[in-house]
Amino acid sequence: MADGITITFGPLGSVGRGDVVLFVGDDLALAPAVAQAIGGGVADLVARAAASERFKGKSLSALALPAPAGLDADRLLVIGLGSEKDRAKIDWPALGGFTASKVSGRNAHVALTIGDLDVTAENAADFALGARLRHYSFDRYKTKKKPEGEDAKSTSLTLMVADVSAAEAAAKISEAVSDGVILARELVNEPPNVLHPEEFARRAEQLTKLGVEVEVLGPAKLAALGMGALLAVARGSVKEPRVVVMRWNGGEAGEAPIAFIGKGVCFDSGGISIKSAGGMEDMKGDMGGAACVVGTMHALAARKAKVNVIGAIGIVENMPDGDAYRPGDIVTSMSGQTIEVINTDAEGRLVLADVIWHIQGAYKPKFMIDLATLTGAIIVALGQDIAGMFSNDDALSAKITAAGEATGEAVWRMPLIPAYDKAIDSKFADMKNSGGRHGGAATAASFLKRYVNDVPWAHLDIAGVAMSSSSSEINRSWGAGWGVRLLDRLVRDNYEG
Ligand code: BES
Ligand code: MN
Ligand code: ZN
Repeated sequence: MADGITITFGPLGSVGRGDVVLFVGDDLALAPAVAQAIGGGVADLVARAAASERFKGKSLSALALPAPAGLDADRLLVIGLGSEKDRAKIDWPALGGFTASKVSGRNAHVALTIGDLDVTAENAADFALGARLRHYSFDRYKTKKKPEGEDAKSTSLTLMVADVSAAEAAAKISEAVSDGVILARELVNEPPNVLHPEEFARRAEQLTKLGVEVEVLGPAKLAALGMGALLAVARGSVKEPRVVVMRWNGGEAGEAPIAFIGKGVCFDSGGISIKSAGGMEDMKGDMGGAACVVGTMHALAARKAKVNVIGAIGIVENMPDGDAYRPGDIVTSMSGQTIEVINTDAEGRLVLADVIWHIQGAYKPKFMIDLATLTGAIIVALGQDIAGMFSNDDALSAKITAAGEATGEAVWRMPLIPAYDKAIDSKFADMKNSGGRHGGAATAASFLKRYVNDVPWAHLDIAGVAMSSSSSEINRSWGAGWGVRLLDRLVRDNYEG
């Protein structure tokens, strides 16, 4: 994965042909070790070029010097790190992403020795992660290739660091994570004619190569389990539904697992309550929760995380059809609770209700987190840069919030109050699948809560963040792969012994 970018580490001074990348603060001073390693006149060269180009060393700005006199390099690239205050809180993935964008398609030696800063192995690994994530682009279906010799996809970075083997070890871990993010992005970006439920299950099965146990449940098994809610959604599609249960047992034998559960609606037309045409193509990304779960399982297995984790995804397609489920239908979920269907476009909660119930009963997890592109209402409430979190547990919520702050995948806790639960009481069944427009994200969360017993649980509504994402230094992809880094961080900081 991350085709076309190669990142290696070397000692300071291992400069060859290609680009040389240096970092400076707003004082434009080069670290003495760097100036010395690169060659005598470099400090003077940088000072003169900076003056002529009015380069002030502002954070994430760049100055390029082609064919620098007296140096072996083809190009000298100076990247600003800003003021002393900026330098005290460098966002290493963002710096890696910015740097990668400036040397795309080239061969670059990057002096990751920054002034008086102590660049740790983790900093270097985060830099590499950002570079890999920025480099990713989804162009599988573009047939017009770049002219020969201009393969802008092939980038090579040599990161020059103080302790090469420590950086290499840390970067192996960050590469597992960036591969997980890229896998999630890939799944979200794939078109729905390619990534239908069966194909999604096949892609999840690839995780067996990393030692993940993968079980794929088809319609007969789902019917035997009594998953009447999930199966109701799937009825309108010629594509069969699947539930995939992935198990990574890196922890103590017998220790209760963590469970991550994802909504995997490969395409959400709305069904009989059909959506309007404008932007409907975006509903190929309605499996962003499931993509995050698969990407996270990849990351955890690839870095051999010392933890027991279950990843479970419910994958269906929501389509209108003569045999589709309809408004007015009453379906029986695996829990035995009945649901009156008000709107066939409120399908994600039906899928999750059965998967949550199954995982909770069969695997007795110590806690559950579900991720779902569940409601348009969460986008109205929070926008596209922060996910909504609903939870029955303050401690779990605090840990998820902290992991989000650490990775930049922010979450904001939303309320769960009895009024939301009351809004989904039904005249004819135990509950209805829509509480109407008011508090749409919260009533959806309350619906899920009716399927959670006495176990810590959090629901992340990622409709705003999983797709059509704001572009950042580490992401230019429509599918962001949101949440993989957050869940990996949550596990790493709290559950690996
Ligand atoms: N998949 C959608 C939610 C969504 C909207 C995700 C926009 C990403 C971007 C979900 O299945 C849905 O249609 N929800 C309805 C629920 C309503 C019918 C109660 C919604 O939010 O309008
Ligand atoms: Mn829907
Ligand atoms: Zn949906």
